[in-house]
Amino acid sequence: MPKEAKTEELKSEVAALASKTKSPQDLMSHIVRLLHDRKLKFNWVGFYMLEDGASGKAPILVLGAFEGAMTPHTRIPLNQGICGAAASTGKTVVVDDVSKDPRYLACSIETKSEIVVPIFAGGKVRGELDIDSHFLAAFGNEDRELVEYCADLVGKCLEKHRG
Ligand code: SME
Repeated sequence: MPKEAKTEELKSEVAALASKTKSPQDLMSHIVRLLHDRKLKFNWVGFYMLEDGASGKAPILVLGAFEGAMTPHTRIPLNQGICGAAASTGKTVVVDDVSKDPRYLACSIETKSEIVVPIFAGGKVRGELDIDSHFLAAFGNEDRELVEYCADLVGKCLEKHRG
């Protein structure tokens, strides 16, 4: 039986990763693996990064590092999905029952609840950390804090490596 990791333990592991990481991409790949492997109800963990709308095109969220089954949603406009809602408002969105949220874009029929946390760098939303669970209301306050902590470290790493 796999063991559920404690939030504080995971936070220090993520902080250690962030201090050693070579790039934001490297940090994001490690975070998705860590959260997916060690949080038993985190069944899909992935980053979407905001691609600026160049030459008159609307900005769009593009799938980055992820762990879990491949999703059909590799590019999500800001006016669609829970992902679009979190990125466009700059606020964490927690959905306890995705079947009751009309914004929800289905990724797997097994998904029951979802959390999406925006990532800020230089005062702007640059992406988000999205997690799906096969369990209803899987994301409590402690989980929310953990995911927000990870998103914050990625934001700081983006700022540090900004070209
Ligand atoms: N459910 C998300 C789409 C992304 S998948 O969950 C990976 C949404 O409603 O925006």
